[in-house]
Amino acid sequence: MKFKEIKNNIFYCGLNDCEREIFDELIPLEHGTSYNSYLVKGSEKVAIIDTMYPPKTEEYLKNLDENGVDRIDYIIANHGEQDHSGSIPALLKKYPDAVVVTNAKVKDNIKEMLLVDEEKIKVINNNEELSLGDKTLRFIIAPGVHWPDTMFTYFVEDNIICTCDFLGAHYTFEDIFADDSKELEHSAKRYYAEIMMPFRTMCKKYTQMLKDLKPEMILPSHGPVYKNPEFILDLYADWSADEGKNLVTMPYVSMYGSTESMIDYMKEKLEAKGISVHKFDIVRGDLGDLAMDLVDATTIVLGSSMVLTGPHPAAFNIAYLAGILRPKAKIATFVGSYGWGGNLFGKLSEQLSGLKLDVIEPLLVKGKPKEEDYKKLDEIAEQIYEKHKALNLI
Ligand code: FEO
Repeated sequence: MKFKEIKNNIFYCGLNDCEREIFDELIPLEHGTSYNSYLVKGSEKVAIIDTMYPPKTEEYLKNLDENGVDRIDYIIANHGEQDHSGSIPALLKKYPDAVVVTNAKVKDNIKEMLLVDEEKIKVINNNEELSLGDKTLRFIIAPGVHWPDTMFTYFVEDNIICTCDFLGAHYTFEDIFADDSKELEHSAKRYYAEIMMPFRTMCKKYTQMLKDLKPEMILPSHGPVYKNPEFILDLYADWSADEGKNLVTMPYVSMYGSTESMIDYMKEKLEAKGISVHKFDIVRGDLGDLAMDLVDATTIVLGSSMVLTGPHPAAFNIAYLAGILRPKAKIATFVGSYGWGGNLFGKLSEQLSGLKLDVIEPLLVKGKPKEEDYKKLDEIAEQIYEKHKALNLI
């Protein structure tokens, strides 16, 4: 594969992984992913920004050979996670004079995870610069988007920035440049939901920093290069904002249909009040879709059947996931049905306790909901409506 030039001796040398179906063994990928690596040829030195996912190392090295890369002076490691740092040992073997340039936290990680010899690592500090001759690399340490070791590399003369995982997308491509399409936006949002949402405050901070910097291009570690940085920066500004949308997400699991009938009833009532509702079948649905709803939703209504004496494990898993993804939701409640007893909501609300949600009194029914239960569902729907109104969402 011939490397494509992004601009002025900056080349894309990463790889697509079209076959990959799931990332972090958690959220399904709709378009595979790419592991981006960038080759920068200065007048005096050659640097490579990030490397490759270990199973792709052989293909990566072969491409470097085919493109005549016979010298690398610096391997810039923006992040220690192995989908980007994994080929550092192989690169050091192939280019024995190369030095890994990175921050102290990445150094610790690659020493432990990849057994990189610390003699081969040069540690830099925030805003330190490295000259390649006619090009200068500036390192911006950006902890929290998404690992504590995350760093950006800025090409000073070209006004181009590599943002590591931040602003990426699990997306494969022929052209390396983003087409700013709805399809890419969808992939970037799924990616944000799983990888960046837990660090929403830091995302806000670095989105603004990049807006102020006004780079000509943004080069992330997954997905295409943004020639129009405002496309992804505006999306991140929206996703990371404190205010949610007028949206209720309703993940549910229902063994005999009673819980689902309550979810359906509430959905109809809320929609009639002008609130958007996304119902989500936990067992059959795609977790990525739910994660995307959590980016925007102001309210979570979690429905579960009782299994033995507690919530259905699938509902428990969703409560746990929502707890660690740390969405911006402000309101929650639970509905569910049981056969012979138990504590349905205790363990679910415990998982969400870190989100500091305003929890509306939940509804638990034995078997099918009756007339009085529907009245209670009306009351819950009314409370959600009032709370959305108070937040100026309606
Ligand atoms: Fe794509 Fe945090 O690695």
